[in-house]
Amino acid sequence: MRPVRSRSSPRPGSVAGTNETRTQPADITSAAIASFEGCSDARLQELAQTLVRHLHAFAVEVGLTQEEWEAGVGILTATGQITDERRQEFILWSDSLGLSMLVDALANPLPAGATESTVLGPFYVPGAPERAYGENMAEEPAGTPAWVYGRVLDLDGHGIAAAELDVWQNGDDRLYAVQSPEAPEEHLRGRFRTRGDGSYAFLAVRPVPYTIPDDGPVGAMLDATGRHPWRPAHIHMIVRAPGHRTVVTHIFDAASGYLDSDAVFAVKPSLPREFVPRAADDPERPDGVEGAWCSVENDLVLAPGEDARLVVDPGRTA
Ligand code: BEZ
Ligand code: FE
Repeated sequence: MRPVRSRSSPRPGSVAGTNETRTQPADITSAAIASFEGCSDARLQELAQTLVRHLHAFAVEVGLTQEEWEAGVGILTATGQITDERRQEFILWSDSLGLSMLVDALANPLPAGATESTVLGPFYVPGAPERAYGENMAEEPAGTPAWVYGRVLDLDGHGIAAAELDVWQNGDDRLYAVQSPEAPEEHLRGRFRTRGDGSYAFLAVRPVPYTIPDDGPVGAMLDATGRHPWRPAHIHMIVRAPGHRTVVTHIFDAASGYLDSDAVFAVKPSLPREFVPRAADDPERPDGVEGAWCSVENDLVLAPGEDARLVVDPGRTA
């Protein structure tokens, strides 16, 4: 559809003494929005028209220049070029602009008392090994051993038996197993089941802060805008139980740096936990642990309902 011409009074730039009218920026926006009038899918029409409205409003508000528009096209092109089956730079944009957290908050509201959700991230790989209560996820030394324990509960405080905790984390080299060609595939990953009373435990390592992949367009944006790429130390978990809403969450180390400036805005005040330092001679030292270790207690509360979130590998294993 061609731009609609305004027929109002002559504007600056019109030729004096003629009826000529000039196309105004708002006319272009109206035409682009109107071009979707024939869309038979009402939701698709709403998405397309609202996107155009906001995109045009952005360009008008900042007075977007031709050079800036070209730079934006260049960034999108570079984002496509670096994205493949192992790296998803578009989702990294979404994460680093806070959109992933916003969509999660809009799409997955949880009742008060339920454990809050946060980003999935690019390092989730489905099919982690099933591990026994208390088993060590570290296939090789990867930092200070951390005994992670707690219960999976319903909103009334009753333990949920046979809930699944799908866990993954980085080691003290900052890397997830999927990022490290030398690490065993099953390193620092595991699926654990709760016992009859809802209790669970596993041996992990104390996580360390690390940077999101910052060697591509997102990293260039962070650099150019004076932002840093760091995430605070955390352990990832997806908790699933029949009759309950799946929750994708983290345990954050309450003593970590970057809790107040997470590069992907994933920290919620309810999620940090204290990793308690424990001595080598502590009588509760888990089997197989030598030297200093730590422990962290983390109860998880699931909301009732159907499994609204089918969490699958989005193909992001940068
Ligand atoms: C992560 O926690 O694994 C992560 C989340 C978003 C972007 C990059 C990494
Ligand atoms: Fe992570």
